Amino acid sequence: MKNRKILITGGAGFIGSHTVRHFVTNYPGCKIVNLDKLTYAGNLENLTDIEGENNYSFIKGDINDKELLDQLFKNFRFDVIIHLAAESHVDRSISGPDEFVKTNILGTVSLLNTALRFWGKNFEGKLFYHISTDEVYGSLDNEGLFTESTPYDPRSPYSASKASSDHLVRAYRHTYGLPVVISNCSNNYGPNQFPEKLIPLAINNIKNNIPVPVYGKGENVRDWLFVTDHASAIDLICREGKPGETYNVGGGNEWRNIDLVKLLCRIMDKKLNRTPGESEKLISFVKDRAGHDLRYAIDFGKIKKELGWEPSVDFRKGLEITVDWYLNNNRWLDRVCSGEYRQYYNQQYSKR
Ligand code: NAD
Ligand code: TYD
Repeated sequence: MKNRKILITGGAGFIGSHTVRHFVTNYPGCKIVNLDKLTYAGNLENLTDIEGENNYSFIKGDINDKELLDQLFKNFRFDVIIHLAAESHVDRSISGPDEFVKTNILGTVSLLNTALRFWGKNFEGKLFYHISTDEVYGSLDNEGLFTESTPYDPRSPYSASKASSDHLVRAYRHTYGLPVVISNCSNNYGPNQFPEKLIPLAINNIKNNIPVPVYGKGENVRDWLFVTDHASAIDLICREGKPGETYNVGGGNEWRNIDLVKLLCRIMDKKLNRTPGESEKLISFVKDRAGHDLRYAIDFGKIKKELGWEPSVDFRKGLEITVDWYLNNNRWLDRVCSGEYRQYYNQQYSKR
């Protein structure tokens, strides 16, 4: 890709920061603008290694700020929008859905409107790429996989807000001809993930010798993908994805939560020189999440067949990299675990 002006929203978050790094590093001839509100989940420390690059700019701002969007589109004349900005944690959506509606639904509409206004009717070389989740498809029982034609059945305020934004993105293509593409990905893991999600939360708690909360009986199943594999899928879809299409992205890597947490405990026993079985004693079964989806699993056959993408990072290797990163980045972890995090953690887990 050459000479493209690319807006990435939510680029200071977990997946966003890996995506920004991927594009800044691989496409020196492109201009990458990262627009991020820096909510509790956004962290510029995720990007210190590339912040000085000539082809990169950071703008602090809200995707709901229409004047700012106008100004940015005027200044940078974007060709491509990769839209990741979102409220992303299911538990937070259960205790406070409003912010999810504001950012995930209204924020997406505000971006769509701005793109439509600035691109006019000449969509040549333009792309609005919306990053979504497999959670829009609902919950599976023990059989089957989500495909691109699985009917939407979102069941948490988070997944309902993402489903709503997906529908709006498709409606802008159908109604106005906007060139859009959507990908729906399974659970990501890796360095820089905020420790409210299962894997970094468990690593942090094991490290600090505090109970590791497992919801219900730990029987829920998720499909896990290493975050840089998601970034490479985003790159490929951006270059070769067909406007109007949807691509499911997944790891082909299903784990019951309890098995995953036990594996993490074993890895950390070794890394921390603990006696085998010591970390596992920290596992604490707590009250289940309201409306907890039983199983997510992705069929990524379409992107594999049409674009040649598949996951490249072996799960055990990916977990080792992730654990090492959290053990070696105490400053990052201590900083994000102060203030608002403590308050969130106490509220979320004290009643369980
Ligand atoms: P994250 O919570 O780590 O990061 C979200 C980023 O968006 C943060 O930097 C935050 O500051 C920014 N943001 C929030 N509200 C904003 C607003 N109003 N304006 C501008 N910026 C705002 O999330 P993530 O896990 O990196 O997820 C990124 C995207 O990928 C989301 O759209 C999410 O739905 C999707 N997704 C995530 C996963 C996963 O496993 N984490 C899986 C599939 C899809
Ligand atoms: P999470 O990382 O929040 O991702 P999602 O809900 O979007 O899949 O949770 C992954 C799984 O782990 C999910 O089944 C809920 C469970 N879970 C726990 O058992 N304990 C926890 O403390 C958290 C945060 C999640």
